[in-house]
Amino acid sequence: MGAPRDRSSPRTAIRAATGKTQDTTRDAGPAVVAHSERPTHLMAELQRTLLLVKPDGVQRQLVGRVLTRFEERGLKLVGLKLVWVDKTLAEQHYAVHRDKPFFRGLVDFITSGPLVAAVLEGPNAIEIVRAMNGATRPHEAAPGSIRGDFAVETAQNLVHASDSPETAEAEVALWFRPGELLEYGRDIDRWVLAPGE
Ligand code: CMP
Repeated sequence: MGAPRDRSSPRTAIRAATGKTQDTTRDAGPAVVAHSERPTHLMAELQRTLLLVKPDGVQRQLVGRVLTRFEERGLKLVGLKLVWVDKTLAEQHYAVHRDKPFFRGLVDFITSGPLVAAVLEGPNAIEIVRAMNGATRPHEAAPGSIRGDFAVETAQNLVHASDSPETAEAEVALWFRPGELLEYGRDIDRWVLAPGE
């Protein structure tokens, strides 16, 4: 039997890029997270970022292997779900590519089957997840990265991750309702995170 869930972990305050403090029970929002009790001089800010294992990853049965990599790195899963996304959400998510020639194909592809949406939390999580995914075009992705190990085509590049704090904040809010993001402590955190995180 596993250890009981820790519901007594210190309440997490959320600090948006604006510097405002928000309550995660009311707002899923920001990508930058800071425990209210953390000594700020010691460690990088905790960030939250959106990860999608796109329909090709689900169909190729790579979900577990992809998520395992992030768990093993030390990032914390704070949100996770299987979604068959509709065109409206797909178009919102990829709005920045609306004028690109591949936009229609991209929306068709991302809506072609279920995908896994996750929110990962950790120090510098946005940069870490991007690096672990590898370059968008798999032939440029370093071996050892997810795309560098498992993908060969740009349109079937398995994963998506937020590329900046601003994008992470918007994407997390687009894909997850506030109540779908959970706060919990992990016993391993004292080995993974700097003191106070
Ligand atoms: P992703 O990180 O999800 O962000 C945009 C996606 O567009 C990208 O990964 C690719 O899967 C997809 N895409 C399809 N064709 C192209 C292209 N020619 N150039 C860049 N991205 C492309």
